[in-house]
Amino acid sequence: MYNGPAGIAGMGVYVPEKILTNSELEKIVDTSDEWIRTRTGIVERRVVEGDTATSDLAVPAAKAALEDAGVHIDEVDLILVAASTPDMIFPSTACLVQKKLNSKGAAAFDLQAACTGFVYGLTVASQFIETGMYKTVLFIGADAFTRHINWKDRGTCILFGDGAGAFVLRRAEKGYGLLSSYLAADGSGADLLKIPAGGSCHPGSEQSIKEGLHYVYMNGSEVFKFAVRVFPEAVQKALDKAGLTVDDIDYLVPHQANIRIINSGAERLGISKEKVVVNLDRYGNTSTASIPLALYDLYKTGSLKRGDVLVFVGYGAGLTWGANVVRWY
Ligand code: COA
Repeated sequence: MYNGPAGIAGMGVYVPEKILTNSELEKIVDTSDEWIRTRTGIVERRVVEGDTATSDLAVPAAKAALEDAGVHIDEVDLILVAASTPDMIFPSTACLVQKKLNSKGAAAFDLQAACTGFVYGLTVASQFIETGMYKTVLFIGADAFTRHINWKDRGTCILFGDGAGAFVLRRAEKGYGLLSSYLAADGSGADLLKIPAGGSCHPGSEQSIKEGLHYVYMNGSEVFKFAVRVFPEAVQKALDKAGLTVDDIDYLVPHQANIRIINSGAERLGISKEKVVVNLDRYGNTSTASIPLALYDLYKTGSLKRGDVLVFVGYGAGLTWGANVVRWY
């Protein structure tokens, strides 16, 4: 049964305090501020310190979203966390967040779609509202990606940062909220971006540590080609499903991986740069948190108007990719 669309009733974000600049990276690894800026667009990123885990980033973002929506934690029916870097294999990060928020009644589970997790998760979370199964869903994208980085690998360590973003989802008026979603995957590209060890394939062992299998591994140029290809495709497919065109977009909010991927996607779609939200210069690639962190920049400055059409587009390991079309209300 279709019960009406899901809408964003409130949002919140959180980033760790510590800033790691490109110049500081120059001291750790053979790179330069100039190379990072021109090849990626990144200037600095936030990084967790000590034993801070993904749930520690998710909780303040969730609290901010609940406050923004004027919703008490006891009203939340489901906590869904999209995380590429969960606290543990199990229990789910969603259950750890539930505990830290002192939520008693809510269901809780994680969703794994790597850097496309926010787009996949928003789609999944919304369906609980659309079917009428739940009234209030707390959906969080959170990642402490830098906990898995090999700081000697200049091909990956310059790209990632840590952060979290959360939405409180509730039913929206007809014609508003989530209008459409397009999700895709191609498991034949699974080897291009991965953390090989820590799962049942290579459980953590002396050997796995020695071989560095617990770090992020990436074939950068292949992932780059993939991202450039699927970005415009995902946006176009989601727009088609919503019965809209590129000209209807007020803001395109892309996953923040590399400015060259974003510029190429925007150019191929024929969308002007003013409509494309970019903040990767300050945060780098925060995986599942990058779309809400970028959206929040618009939200907090009051730029979003009722009726604005927003498109979220994501891509990442799996390989996975997808897009959501949202009408703001
Ligand atoms: N600093 C300086 N030089 C670097 C470097 C760094 N951090 N990283 C790579 N290089 C060097 C390479 O060793 C290579 O040198 P060589 O020509 O002497 O062999 C040269 O720069 C070009 O390397 P290449 O890998 O072709 O660079 P690139 O332009 O493809 O940029 C990435 C590399 C990683 C920035 C780019 O491939 C990328 O962004 N890929 C997608 C990553 C991504 O988005 N992942 C997440 C998806 S969710």
